[in-house]
Amino acid sequence: MTRPVTILGIESSCDDTAAAVVRGVPGDMSILSSDVHGQTDLHADFGGVVPEIAARAHAERLDVTVKAALDAAGVALTQLDAIGVTCGPGLIGGVVSGVMTAKGLSAATGLPLYGINHLAGHALTPRLTDGAAFPYLMLLVSGGHCQFLIAHGPTRFTRLGGTIDDAPGEAFDKVARLIGLGQPGGPALEAAARAGDATRFAFPRPLLNKPDCNLSFSGLKTAVLRARDAVVAEHGGLPRQAQADLAAGFQQAVADSLSGKTRRALDLYLAEEPSLPTLCVAGGVAANMAIRAALETVCADLGVAFLAPPLALCTDNAAMIAAATIEQMPYRDPDGMSLSARPRMPLDTSSAPMIGSGKKGAKA
Ligand code: KG4
Ligand code: ZN
Repeated sequence: MTRPVTILGIESSCDDTAAAVVRGVPGDMSILSSDVHGQTDLHADFGGVVPEIAARAHAERLDVTVKAALDAAGVALTQLDAIGVTCGPGLIGGVVSGVMTAKGLSAATGLPLYGINHLAGHALTPRLTDGAAFPYLMLLVSGGHCQFLIAHGPTRFTRLGGTIDDAPGEAFDKVARLIGLGQPGGPALEAAARAGDATRFAFPRPLLNKPDCNLSFSGLKTAVLRARDAVVAEHGGLPRQAQADLAAGFQQAVADSLSGKTRRALDLYLAEEPSLPTLCVAGGVAANMAIRAALETVCADLGVAFLAPPLALCTDNAAMIAAATIEQMPYRDPDGMSLSARPRMPLDTSSAPMIGSGKKGAKA
């Protein structure tokens, strides 16, 4: 593709209603606007995302969000070249809301409609932010995702491994709750861990002794629960220092597990002899400084560049969906009205499916 195209992206697979306008060519794109409406307040009383509430909120917000994105970009519907929409994986009610909105816009304007895999949106973000060269290794770590992917091109990904139970963000949130910290648990736990001693409690590094790239966080969570109960039994409550030590020990165990498995994944990736070896991270957990530092150390050891997009583009957004549309357009046909929403949608259909389902929906 030589001519720059202007794309409207729509995302509604979890608890963010988002629309964005992106213009450019593959590997060289600019964000003209990106509007994201989170639903944290709506789900706050329930300890997790309630699918029915999420779907209704998306249905109510999508049209205004699309309008806000077009207005902020100064782009009319007639100036667009295509529409890209997340068609899975995710909470099905939300995905259906986005797909139906996009179909309505496509039917009314005649614009081509592309269904985009949400994970491809995350995995192609380094093309939007840094024009990263293929192939690169991607680590997605959020409240709902945890996987290593080699991105060979805009439509070709190899999944090297991922979590067999909880996603790491989900584990941060649950452990934060266990030790009396607020939500979202990740930032609260990271702050508490600063005053803690990571060596006081001996927590496991699940699956680290296995030679594959799979991860597990559920046993670690249980280990924190047992340690907390022992402290409470001894002191009649959880002293602040013990809370900090539990937080620090848990965070260190997650950092060790992620960096250990990243070393394995990098070995497999480097065997492909990439011209510009690069590890990219995405997802809310990539904001954690201890985890980031551990990953950077592994990259420095192996001579691999480390890329972390700005946080607003690491977490769910529609600019990544518009950018993935620009990347994929030269390689595929539009879906049009036959597009359907899918709760599960693996990026790499050749790798074995993973079990488990996070608080933020089904994992691919
Ligand atoms: O990517 P994201 O915004 O949403 C999805 O999961 O789709 O990720 C949110 C997750 C939450 O579980 C949150 O606790 C975690 O990322 N998180 C963190 C940090 N900031 C956010 N986890 C660890 N350390 C942090 N600083
Ligand atoms: Zn996501």
